[in-house]
Amino acid sequence: MKNILKKIFRIISLNKEYSRMINETLSKKLLRDNNIRDIRPSLIYSLDDAESSDYLFSIISDAIKIAYKLELKCGKKNLSDSKFLNEFPGEHYKILSSIVKATNAKEVVEIGTYTGLGTLSIKEGINPPGKITTYDLIGWDKLGFESHFTKDDFKDGSIKQILGDLSENIFFEENLETLNRSDIIFMDASKDDNFEYKMLKQFLKLKPKIGKLLILDDIKFINMIDLWRSIKSPKFDISSFGHWSGTGIVDLSEGLKI
Ligand SMILES: C[S@@+](CC[C@H](N)C(=O)[O-])C[C@H]1O[C@@H](n2cnc3c(N)ncnc32)[C@H](O)[C@@H]1O
Repeated sequence: MKNILKKIFRIISLNKEYSRMINETLSKKLLRDNNIRDIRPSLIYSLDDAESSDYLFSIISDAIKIAYKLELKCGKKNLSDSKFLNEFPGEHYKILSSIVKATNAKEVVEIGTYTGLGTLSIKEGINPPGKITTYDLIGWDKLGFESHFTKDDFKDGSIKQILGDLSENIFFEENLETLNRSDIIFMDASKDDNFEYKMLKQFLKLKPKIGKLLILDDIKFINMIDLWRSIKSPKFDISSFGHWSGTGIVDLSEGLKI
């Protein structure tokens, strides 16, 4: 019996997927009060191998102060995700907009448009004539449900949506100029244990640019922890002021180091 249990434990611990499934199931049973809108398994881990920078510390503290007082006005009021826009702490929209403002970013890239709430929050923080390029696989007007965008949002050219998968080499090369020009890249697409890992490799091709930032959503998802930990560039986990599922910010001034 002992040997069988040992074998089972060995199979489980060797197989990431089994461990994650068990973690997922157990995490829902762990709390005395699990009456929470959304619960996901995560981990706590030591941070002694993480480094930060004066620049990051300075812009984050400015952005947090801006975010605390900020009331975002963008987007439609009656969509299912409208209620998240000004949730702070808890959601990423206020801190995202505030980081754009605090850094005086001129060009921002978003990877993962969805209903456009992130894009419009960035737009509220950007000083005109700022530019936002947002990438997705599905057009904002082809979602099958209502977007926060209207056609008017694209009239002055400040927002452009491009369809395609930046984890594919050819598409990444075609868009390299836009990515190199950008002051901030906000990555919030698929967290399928694959896409974001491929994207880190793509970001190694970016030219260093002083003050350039990479913002990552969902860094506390169990399959994002290895990714976040693999980043050796100066970084901060700002989840307490960002998304409950984790918001991380990376200083790309010297390029990405992993
Ligand atoms: C979490 S939503 C984005 C939310 C949005 N950034 C916000 O802040 O409200 C994820 C989006 O990523 C898109 N997506 C999934 N895989 C993608 C990929 N390979 N490239 C670009 N977008 C992708 C999905 O279609 C979806 O619209």
